[in-house]
Amino acid sequence: MASEIHFQSLVVSRAEPAAAGIRLFEFRSADGADLRSFDAGAHVKVRTPSGHVRQYSLSNDPRERDRYVIAVKREGDGRGGSRSMVDQVQVGDRLEVGEPENLFALDEHGHGFVLIAGGIGITPVLAMARTLLSREQPFTLYYLTRDAASTAFLDVVTAPGMRGHVVLHHDEGDPDKAYDLWPVLEKPGSLAGRHLYCCGPRGLMDAVRDMTGHWPGSSVHFETFGADTKPRADDRPFVVRLARSGMAFQVPAGQSILDVARTHGVRVASSCESGTCGTCKTSLLAGEADHRDLVLLEEEKAGNIMVCVSRAISDELVLDL
Ligand code: FES
Repeated sequence: MASEIHFQSLVVSRAEPAAAGIRLFEFRSADGADLRSFDAGAHVKVRTPSGHVRQYSLSNDPRERDRYVIAVKREGDGRGGSRSMVDQVQVGDRLEVGEPENLFALDEHGHGFVLIAGGIGITPVLAMARTLLSREQPFTLYYLTRDAASTAFLDVVTAPGMRGHVVLHHDEGDPDKAYDLWPVLEKPGSLAGRHLYCCGPRGLMDAVRDMTGHWPGSSVHFETFGADTKPRADDRPFVVRLARSGMAFQVPAGQSILDVARTHGVRVASSCESGTCGTCKTSLLAGEADHRDLVLLEEEKAGNIMVCVSRAISDELVLDL
């Protein structure tokens, strides 16, 4: 699938801090020509200086044809894709950027929109907010972050015009201070045509999924970049052995390797928990994986597994943990 993407060489015209640990990048064509158009919710693949291909949502106004704007969170524990973007990319560099793809598009027939963004999940949601604002369509953006310092696009969401549509909440990293979305989500609204869009950490998306079970399925949308994070009916349990610690545990259907490792006190770095960021890449020493991520290259699949989403075809996997 990735091979069908046409990459083009674009110039980095801006590279600057967007918040703590987050950097904003602007891409333009070298000759000033218009770029391929996109709609709110779209993302592009970017080949990072480290050679990884990563997907980043476009956060600028889709009416702009001369630039793409992305924001990248530096995943210190990751495998190098975001780190090389944040640490190495400078204004004037050229990067390979794919054509916009959109698996998270606004419903053209929607009449009211609830947008929920957690942390760096603001990027596609901000393009949606810009679009809805320009169309004068009703929406509220719930933007949930740790604190002001880690809030990307703070100036945009607090600007006149946008500010009246935004509920900005900081939890200071304390789960007890998490924003209570239930009053927002309790009534799907008699409102036919009300749509919900959510992008953020797995925990937030799971919570929103839990709270919207009574919404019409077609009106609730999550950005997973097409990653296959939903349990499948034929998922079955399997055994994971950890070569370094000698531990072994069973991963039941409905739980990820990462979840089960955590409950056993095994720490594996993770971020997106949806198979898209590359952080939880783990060496696979034996067994056959059922890969469900969007980051491993074909040649990496025999020896690696993304433990946040992938499962096993064999009865047992041996991991280098
Ligand atoms: S945590 Fe992002 S790919 Fe697993």
